[in-house]
Amino acid sequence: MTRTDIAPAKGKLGVLIPGFCGAISTTLIGGVEAVKAGEGRPIGSLTQMGRIRLGKRTERKNPFIRDFIPLADLKDLVFGGWDIFDENLHEAALKAAVLDPAQIESVRGRLEQLRPMKAAFDRKYVKNLQGPHVKKGKNKYDFAMQLISDIEAFRKKNRLDRAVMIWCASTETYIKEQNVHSTLAKFEAGMKADHPAIAPSMLYLYAALKCGVPFINGAPNLGVSIPAMVELARKRGVPIAGSDFKTGQTLMKTILAPGLKSRMLGIRGWFSTNILGNRDGEVLDDPASFKTKEVSKLSVLESILQPEMNPELYQDLYHKVTINYYPPRGDNKEGWDNIDLFGWLDYPMQVKVDFLCRDSILAAPLALDLVLFMDLAKRAGLGGIQEWLSFYFKSPIHAPEVYPENDLFVQLEKLENNLRHLMGKGLITHLGTEYYK
Ligand SMILES: NC(=O)c1ccc[n+]([C@@H]2O[C@H](COP(=O)([O-])OP(=O)(O)OC[C@H]3O[C@@H](n4cnc5c(N)ncnc54)[C@H](O)[C@@H]3O)[C@@H](O)[C@H]2O)c1
Repeated sequence: MTRTDIAPAKGKLGVLIPGFCGAISTTLIGGVEAVKAGEGRPIGSLTQMGRIRLGKRTERKNPFIRDFIPLADLKDLVFGGWDIFDENLHEAALKAAVLDPAQIESVRGRLEQLRPMKAAFDRKYVKNLQGPHVKKGKNKYDFAMQLISDIEAFRKKNRLDRAVMIWCASTETYIKEQNVHSTLAKFEAGMKADHPAIAPSMLYLYAALKCGVPFINGAPNLGVSIPAMVELARKRGVPIAGSDFKTGQTLMKTILAPGLKSRMLGIRGWFSTNILGNRDGEVLDDPASFKTKEVSKLSVLESILQPEMNPELYQDLYHKVTINYYPPRGDNKEGWDNIDLFGWLDYPMQVKVDFLCRDSILAAPLALDLVLFMDLAKRAGLGGIQEWLSFYFKSPIHAPEVYPENDLFVQLEKLENNLRHLMGKGLITHLGTEYYK
């Protein structure tokens, strides 16, 4: 494939966000506005700051990714979305308290113009939340139809060329994949019958795919991985990606674990705990929502360490993850890890990590990159699961016949090689045989 196969990034790109008034959404939108106004730098974003090597090391060709591939420009993004609270984004950003009030003030005019549409929400799926700005409908199918009308109206009003949807709303209660998720026909019948295993997030996903809008799942909710939605995405040629942004503790885990494993060091235990005081922390204080997050957080180590291939080193690994809601910290999460490892002749060692991070400051650049890359994928004709974007997720969706790739460095290589491939450039293998002659 060459560059001519990718449609140009012309016109406006709509960014539709369920969870419009939340911490990630307001940090993303406030941040993009600040960057556009020259009031801040897009640190943490590969599309804005990253370079990509092309050709041999001797060629010294390392263009910026944004100059190498045709991505949408920040000035062409038009933000819109849904929330259960009816407040403009200036009020919402102040409440989220991630960005400094002075920084929020500098983009106040832009944020005040943005207000959410009414949400498709059901408290059964997010027990610790309640809000007045919600749709009324006959059944789940009716809610999905209302969301489709919202998307079409938003497209028309803003004269959009293209759109992408990114889920930045709350983590819903744990749902196991079941029969109603197995085919599109069963899923559609299930919506009409108000099936309890169809959560609001799935209605947004269904609506997006029906409108040909790529969907990114920033939370661990089941949805993008169910066969019915994979089928719809493939049928319509629409990209889907997820799940659960890889930000604080899991980012550290997927940096450290591949390193320890590459040196064949054994691991007996990995204990992870967090304190977090934002609304996300409050939602996750409900055990049913936490269960969804826990499954996502626990999955990474096993696929990196592959205990079935290295039983002597990893088969007895005890992995524990907890999140504690602690309001004084707000969005400034603290994550502790204690790793019990062993080396030569089984001698034990320990690693302690204390990451004082900022949840939404880590998440916003991922959300921006994903929006731009998913728009690229759509213009390049890539439909269905976008595994090359695993780099951004705690729990990457993948084809059923393969295991997920969780090693951050393999994920980055996969992403970069996909970009090279899309642009008709040679892949980088790091073989370097020319120096042995
Ligand atoms: N911040 C991070 O580092 C991070 C990392 C990985 C995943 N996540 C996930 O991303 C999501 C957003 O995180 P956040 O910190 O912005 O949370 P948040 O609680 O600040 O924002 C979520 C927003 O979603 C809204 N909402 C809930 N259900 C909705 C629905 N059905 N329709 C529309 N709006 C709805 C809420 O009212 C709230 O404004 C959460 O699911 C979180 O678990 C966050």
